[in-house]
Amino acid sequence: MRFDTAQLLKRFFFCERSLLVSQAAWIPAIAPLEVKTGLARFIWQSAETAHALRERVFELRFPSRLLEEEGADHALIELFAAVKDSPSVPAFLLSVGKVFLPALRDAYHDYLEASDSIADGPTHRFLSLAVSDKTEQIQAFEQWAESAVSENPQLREAAHAWTDSVANRLQEIGGVGVGPSSSAAAAGPLPGARAYATPAHPARDARFWPCRFYWPDVVDSSYPYGEGMQLQLRSAISHVNEVWAVEAGGVILSSFADVLPWEWIHDSARWTYDESRHCRMGYERLMAWGLDPAEIPLGTYIYESAAGQNPIYLLGMLYFFETKNIRHKPARAQMFHSYGDSLSEHDMDFDWADETLHAGYGKHWLKELLRVRGEDPAAYDEVRERCGKLVSDYVATATAKEIADLKAVAGALIAKAQGG
Ligand SMILES: [Fe+2]
Ligand SMILES: [Fe+2]
Repeated sequence: MRFDTAQLLKRFFFCERSLLVSQAAWIPAIAPLEVKTGLARFIWQSAETAHALRERVFELRFPSRLLEEEGADHALIELFAAVKDSPSVPAFLLSVGKVFLPALRDAYHDYLEASDSIADGPTHRFLSLAVSDKTEQIQAFEQWAESAVSENPQLREAAHAWTDSVANRLQEIGGVGVGPSSSAAAAGPLPGARAYATPAHPARDARFWPCRFYWPDVVDSSYPYGEGMQLQLRSAISHVNEVWAVEAGGVILSSFADVLPWEWIHDSARWTYDESRHCRMGYERLMAWGLDPAEIPLGTYIYESAAGQNPIYLLGMLYFFETKNIRHKPARAQMFHSYGDSLSEHDMDFDWADETLHAGYGKHWLKELLRVRGEDPAAYDEVRERCGKLVSDYVATATAKEIADLKAVAGALIAKAQGG
């Protein structure tokens, strides 16, 4: 019936919402680049599904005020949210991949089987897509969990124990499913839970050359940005180093999930996914030139410049860098065109379109956040300026050795790129 249908879709909305918020929060803590960018994509998929669910619930004339709270599914949504407090990376990956994603996939499948594809056709379209998203997500999580466990065998037992207790709790409250809501009361933290804290330092993929500052021009303004091959290389290095923006996107999405309206999560999921595409553009480009990740500097300085501050400054960092660099992009796309480098041109052109969208997100949500905090929305530009100061203060901590090492690595990369 229509009202029961809306209740179920609302349940699915809150499950997706909760799961994607936790996934976003974990991006900085997980090292492999492939996992960071993969999570960003899955968050976006979940946000699109959740958005469609939410719109559909409204279409079914469900009272909109009831969409502001979980209602009868409180125990279920609390359990979904509990995964944010997973005790370790393997525990997080295993519990999401083995318990929550399969539970959602099965619930969607059962819903599609049981519901009327004519009367409820619009739901069928997006929920069928969600089933295939979930199938892909489950496969990826299985691989990620396996490699996280094999790299940290000492965590294996605790990670499996955590996953078992998540699975047991889910069973106790009746699963996700398509049945009536569970009457179970919320039961508090799971055994072994560790309260989530935003990492002060982002985990880095060990295959790359680890550093804080990823190119000499960041710490030495006399170092040329370059032309020709050097510009092509510099641009790809910038792109892969947008991993910081993926991490910042994840942290701010989750930090403000309960402060700002749903549209914030929807926008910032897309934002995080876009940054992951920019990061992958750089990575794929560098690999196509035959470079080894061990020669490629992967830095942390922008994320760390805002670490320890209120997360509004991570949002400010995104806005600061979007607006600072955007004016160079069309000219650079043109330069790449003149070199006959159509791949770099294509990457830069798509990047420019995304960044234009993001500058809009940055301004809008900084203002909203200030408004919610009872501050003057017009002060968004002060947040941006303070971000510039935080970055320059952090850059000033670069040591002579750090700069010398970085110049050696960058010089070797330029020489190799020019020779090859
Ligand atoms: Fe970007
Ligand atoms: Fe961006």
